[in-house]
Amino acid sequence: MTEHRVQNALGAAFEGVDASLPPPGVALYRGKVRDVLGKGQRVLLVASDRISAFDRVLSSIPWKGEVLARVSSWWFEQTSDIMPNHILKPADCGGLDVLAATGRAVAARRCDMLPVELVVRGYLTGSAWRDYKAGRPVSGLSLPGGLRYNERFPAPIVTPSTKEASGHDKPCSGQDLVASGAIDAELWREVERSALALFARGQELAGARGLILVDTKYEFGLADGRLLVADEMHTPDSSRYWYAEGYASRLAAGDQQRELDKETFRRWLVEHGFSGDGPSPLIDDAVRAATALRYFEAYHALLGDEFEPICADAQAAERALASSLRGVFTPS
Ligand SMILES: Nc1ncnc2c1ncn2[C@@H]1O[C@H](COP(=O)(O)OP(=O)(O)OP(=O)(O)O)[C@@H](O)[C@H]1O
Ligand SMILES: [Mg+2]
Repeated sequence: MTEHRVQNALGAAFEGVDASLPPPGVALYRGKVRDVLGKGQRVLLVASDRISAFDRVLSSIPWKGEVLARVSSWWFEQTSDIMPNHILKPADCGGLDVLAATGRAVAARRCDMLPVELVVRGYLTGSAWRDYKAGRPVSGLSLPGGLRYNERFPAPIVTPSTKEASGHDKPCSGQDLVASGAIDAELWREVERSALALFARGQELAGARGLILVDTKYEFGLADGRLLVADEMHTPDSSRYWYAEGYASRLAAGDQQRELDKETFRRWLVEHGFSGDGPSPLIDDAVRAATALRYFEAYHALLGDEFEPICADAQAAERALASSLRGVFTPS
């Protein structure tokens, strides 16, 4: 992918599915980044090119949705022996491989989503570092003293937060969740165990690519009484990745690690005086293009191939989506 091609694509990003796309009987729900079409026990999760930061949609980045959907699907495949996930196979969709056809959509089983997001953290950074430095517990956990910025934990920790209908999600402890009745104690243990097992696989495979999976967010759901891992997995939007090379020397020097996630975009916002409140700065084309290249770099680093789009632009994506609907919503 050349910079020139990205520049040309800035006006053709996929901002979201057209409201006329869902056929009668298929509902449309718009998340911040993905548009979800649903009917019966099935959903079609369509990753748009929208980019959010500080819980707000701020711009669009060409092919970002393709990168996310394709990276996520790859990770679901790599972890399917650990626990079942929500992805439906082509055989369940009349032989149609929705991702291969659209680049950005996956057909999935509709889940009753648990009202909690689980962040698994392998390293002391981000909001956990800010809490730790201020002497606050990290999602109800009291960590040992004397840890350094970006230091690896002896073992990964699970820091849940409740999924709020609007606004920012609230950190809480696993005990709080169980005590408040948000989740049953036994189910919570299974969720925690599963999240740690997925994270261990994530760290192992990232490590084999010269990357560190620093932390990541999971969402789980129930379908037919079974726990499934749903939503997205180990994407640059839901995860923090660092390059392994030079980690130790940067840690020793107290320097920032080299990141491979949407932190670049967040940092640009902060440098332009925005950290979530008030009007956002104008997102210029230079930062949009630079951000796109970061996503392609993440794709390449993880999957090993250069990123090559499946749909050239928003119109091609819309056509591919339209012709995939039958396979997804007519159960075979
Ligand atoms: N298998 C599934 N069944 C039902 N819903 C799902 C499934 N997988 C993911 N979801 C939901 O689809 C939505 C994906 O959209 P996206 O990630 O853009 O939303 P969000 O901004 O994170 O969250 P929201 O808008 O819901 O606050 C999320 O609400 C997620 O919980
Ligand atoms: Mg989400």
